[in-house]
Amino acid sequence: MNQEQEHVFQISVRRRGFIKSALAITAGIGLPEWFLGQDTYGASAEAPKSENDKPGIALIGCGGQGRNDCRWASYFGNVVAVCDVDENHLNAAAEQFEVKAKYKDFRKLLENKDVDVVINGTPDHWHTLVNIASFKAGKDVYGEKPLTLTIDEGRQLLKVYKETKRIFQTGSQQRSGSQFRLACELVRNGRIGKLQHIRVSLPAGRYGGPFQSRPVPSELDWDFWQGQTQVVDYVPERCHGSFRYWLTYSGGTMTDWGAHHLDIAQWGNGTERSGPVEVEGRSLVNMIPGGYNTPSQYHLEYTYGNGVRMTCKSMAPYGLPNGVRFEGSNGWIFVSRGGINASEQELLDEPLPAGAIRLYKSENHMGNFFDCIRTRKQPICEPEIGHRSVSVAHLGVLAMRLGRKLRWDPYKEEFVDDKIANEWVSREMRAPYDYSIV
Ligand SMILES: NC(=O)c1ccc[n+]([C@@H]2O[C@H](COP(=O)([O-])OP(=O)(O)OC[C@H]3O[C@@H](n4cnc5c(N)ncnc54)[C@H](O)[C@@H]3O)[C@@H](O)[C@H]2O)c1
Repeated sequence: MNQEQEHVFQISVRRRGFIKSALAITAGIGLPEWFLGQDTYGASAEAPKSENDKPGIALIGCGGQGRNDCRWASYFGNVVAVCDVDENHLNAAAEQFEVKAKYKDFRKLLENKDVDVVINGTPDHWHTLVNIASFKAGKDVYGEKPLTLTIDEGRQLLKVYKETKRIFQTGSQQRSGSQFRLACELVRNGRIGKLQHIRVSLPAGRYGGPFQSRPVPSELDWDFWQGQTQVVDYVPERCHGSFRYWLTYSGGTMTDWGAHHLDIAQWGNGTERSGPVEVEGRSLVNMIPGGYNTPSQYHLEYTYGNGVRMTCKSMAPYGLPNGVRFEGSNGWIFVSRGGINASEQELLDEPLPAGAIRLYKSENHMGNFFDCIRTRKQPICEPEIGHRSVSVAHLGVLAMRLGRKLRWDPYKEEFVDDKIANEWVSREMRAPYDYSIV
């Protein structure tokens, strides 16, 4: 389990606890008493009362995060099937969740009538096709972030989502962290005055290479793993876990961590169903030919239609803390996984008045998903939000790749008068791993 995954699991386990223990934990991250008092921690994440209430869960993509999510989901349902294109990962997951139904091809798994819910823990370049196929098969889906590989994939996904009316939760679990909601509620209610600048800092990505190609391990279907992407020789550093540092499969930490922190920035700015109108930026390092090629260190500047500016930088080389800082005419609020603080403590301590804007409350990201499966209401991070958050990251990656300022129309979701940039909104998908297979 990596650091990010360990953190997610710890939160999930903690949130199974009772009000008392949750209060102790949340007080430790700087939440003010008035905010704690208003919450009913854990109330939205009750375990099902009987076996009959437990939906059948299938895990597609049995790597580190998929299994982590599935462990969390197994509190709310029964794991009945697993799927992976790597036999070792498949067998490990089957053993861990004690299931007999094992699949290499997710389309076969989706024919299994015992499966009600899919956990999609595949790498980024597989997210959209697996999500769409699951919707079409009538399954509800918890799909890992970043939601998509391209902006166009988000639009395709939303189309099928609206047609099939399934329940979908994007795995940007910070939305279910109380300190993030508090920060966004305070900012949205003008607690720091007029919001002027958002500063997002994300971990720097990997830098390394060139890497040697190797024989494909016998347990791995490398062609299936590559899916829609261009075929290349097998290089272990392109595959499990480190795929996120290759532009072919992902967008580096811009999309990996951006799907968390840019999501919070959008929430606080009230632009969660829209996006910026301008972006420019640059990679701070030349990546090594034949090595990881997503920018490892970078600096981006965004402008929103409401006049708010947003700076997104890698933590290194600037020595920045990991998190999101909202700056207004009256002070600032900084929020991270470690907690929340502000330019003056009173900004946090003063309760919000009656009638203040209050945001969607979820205290357990997976629990919220299973609650919504029962109620058929929208989860806290439904796909339009996941799509819009990762679009901000995709825009940043494109600005760095094209090396110039880009103007974006968030309503039409296209670049303004920029034919070349508009060609980058989608990518060619390698047959047969395109929309025709789902
Ligand atoms: N929410 C979070 O905090 C968080 C944390 C870590 C990772 N993630 C996300 O989870 C996803 C998986 O990340 P990871 O670190 O577990 O990667 P990983 O490489 O460890 O696991 C991915 C698994 O998917 C399998 N796979 C690939 N193509 C497949 C296909 N077509 N069908 C079935 N299985 C397939 C791989 O063989 C591998 O076992 C990523 O998108 C990542 O961004 C989210």
